[in-house]
Amino acid sequence: MPLLRDATLGIDFGTSNSAMAVRQRGEPARLLALEGPATGLPTALFFNTEDHRTHFGRDAVEQYLTGTEGRLMRSLKSLLGSALLQDKTVVHNTAVSYQDIIALFLQMLAQQARAALGGLPERVVLGRPVHFVDDNPARDQQAQAALGQAARDAGFGEVSFQLEPIAAALDYEQRITQETLVLVVDIGGGTSDFTVVRLDPKRVGQTDRSADVLATTGVHIGGTDFDRKLSQARVMPLLGLGHIGPHGREVPSKVFHDLSTWHLIQWLYAPQALREAQALRSDYSQPALHARLMAVLNQRLGHRVAEAVEQAKIGVSVHGHATPVQLDWVEPDLQGLLSPHEMEHDLQALLAQVVACARACLQLAGLSAQGKSVDAIYLTGGSSALRPLRRAFQQAFPDTPQIEGDLFGGVASGLACAGD
Ligand SMILES: Nc1ncnc2c1ncn2[C@@H]1O[C@H](COP(=O)(O)OP(=O)(O)OP(=O)(O)O)[C@@H](O)[C@H]1O
Ligand SMILES: [Mg+2]
Repeated sequence: MPLLRDATLGIDFGTSNSAMAVRQRGEPARLLALEGPATGLPTALFFNTEDHRTHFGRDAVEQYLTGTEGRLMRSLKSLLGSALLQDKTVVHNTAVSYQDIIALFLQMLAQQARAALGGLPERVVLGRPVHFVDDNPARDQQAQAALGQAARDAGFGEVSFQLEPIAAALDYEQRITQETLVLVVDIGGGTSDFTVVRLDPKRVGQTDRSADVLATTGVHIGGTDFDRKLSQARVMPLLGLGHIGPHGREVPSKVFHDLSTWHLIQWLYAPQALREAQALRSDYSQPALHARLMAVLNQRLGHRVAEAVEQAKIGVSVHGHATPVQLDWVEPDLQGLLSPHEMEHDLQALLAQVVACARACLQLAGLSAQGKSVDAIYLTGGSSALRPLRRAFQQAFPDTPQIEGDLFGGVASGLACAGD
């Protein structure tokens, strides 16, 4: 296949959703349709043990939710930089590492790009968070190297990397008419990333923009952490978290931590993990609660619980009223409930950390941590829609206007603009 000259492919491999955009020099970036007309695709794989095929995106999630036999994997990006990345697991009768599974997902993206464009663009730019791993440069470097290797294995050849918040800024720059100093706030599924950057329509397309990037910061907190927190507060107690057993001790909490953490769920279905969960029986004084836990594990319903919590989070955020977390497929009439007040309470500490990281970015740029010195806060990433988060930013930076970007496609478009 030919390499498309003067074209750049931007790949936003996200914790929750992925997107790709292409840009021919001198033209605007264009998002590629990845699943029907949809330009965004859940970062999900399903290894179907009935048809022995690998399914991706919405198709993967749908197969899992409708009870097809097989294994769902989500939030694979969260494994970059962790020791679990090189762990082997058996899919379709072959032992593969989680890095290989990331490569499989990227290979699907490469096929999509070839099919849409007739070849791969000369330059491929992959997004990366400011930190794959907080406070550990060596592991962070390993994470980027592993993603780069996965991209090569997937057929993309040599790729370059760009920070996701800078990509979001480059996308926004395409739409402004005058020089603007912005704090970019990109809150995704896995990380919160910030940059203070000077944008100027006259400088679009210039090769070296490093002088315009005043600071970048990032923290490993995103929507999947919000889901974990909400699950632990509102759903895991229904399965025994915080439950006092016959010896006056709480049920050990590790299983609930893993069950509420998107990228750890699949490990709970291994025979050893199931035996350990079964052995918790003696830590419960109410056997019915343990039976619920085992029903979820034995029927591999962990992602379904996580999905129900995520949907309730989005429901509360969008509608502003209490929303049930439906769990009647675990046990008749079982449900949790999430109210706006509870959500605000449960997420308070995480949101404070996210706001602190935004302030640190302003300070690093030599600006006032109150945000007055920037012209605007530019919000992107799915979790930037979370109402309590919006409120936290309004309270922290009351005098700075908030601008909402393309929450799911902006980073990919910006990556395609970063290739010149
Ligand atoms: N309306 C909404 N309110 C709150 N959260 C939302 C809303 N819509 C989506 N989300 C959350 O946004 C997250 C996904 O956002 P996004 O697709 O930007 O992340 P990502 O790019 O995959 O992750 P990352 O950039 O961290 O790797 C999920 O956690 C999802 O639950
Ligand atoms: Mg993102």
